[in-house]
Amino acid sequence: MKRNLMMVGVVVATAFASQAAMADAGLDLAKAKNCMACHAVASKVVGPAYKDVAAKYAGQKDAEGKLVTKVMKGGSGVWGAIPMPANPQINEAEAHTLVKWVLSQK
Ligand code: HEC
Repeated sequence: MKRNLMMVGVVVATAFASQAAMADAGLDLAKAKNCMACHAVASKVVGPAYKDVAAKYAGQKDAEGKLVTKVMKGGSGVWGAIPMPANPQINEAEAHTLVKWVLSQK
């Protein structure tokens, strides 16, 4: 019994650790690529809060592809009149990593 509980503890701790590591990698990349100059996870800055973006596209299968293009090329009209400029500092793989991370915010 005691042994089983310990196993559960280890599994839970490992799951938490790997989730935290993933979240940090996304946030670190977003910071390094200047996304956080206009965005925050939980509040609107110049652009929408990432958790609002995640909520808007929840359950939409094509959201990742659409948002990758938008992040790379820029655009406006979805959240307001202010455009997001193109982000030529990121490549497509980085755009996928960033968009996946944005869509995982709650
Ligand atoms: C100069 C400010 C600025 C920077 C830098 C910026 N954004 Fe944005 N972002 C915006 C604005 C403004 C919008 C809202 C555009 C709209 O209404 O269509 C937006 C929208 C978005 C959206 C939602 C798009 C949609 O169509 O719903 C995502 C995802 C996003 N940004 C991710 C990023 C990522 C990732 C980076 C870094 C590579 C980044 N942004 C850098 C200003 C910025």
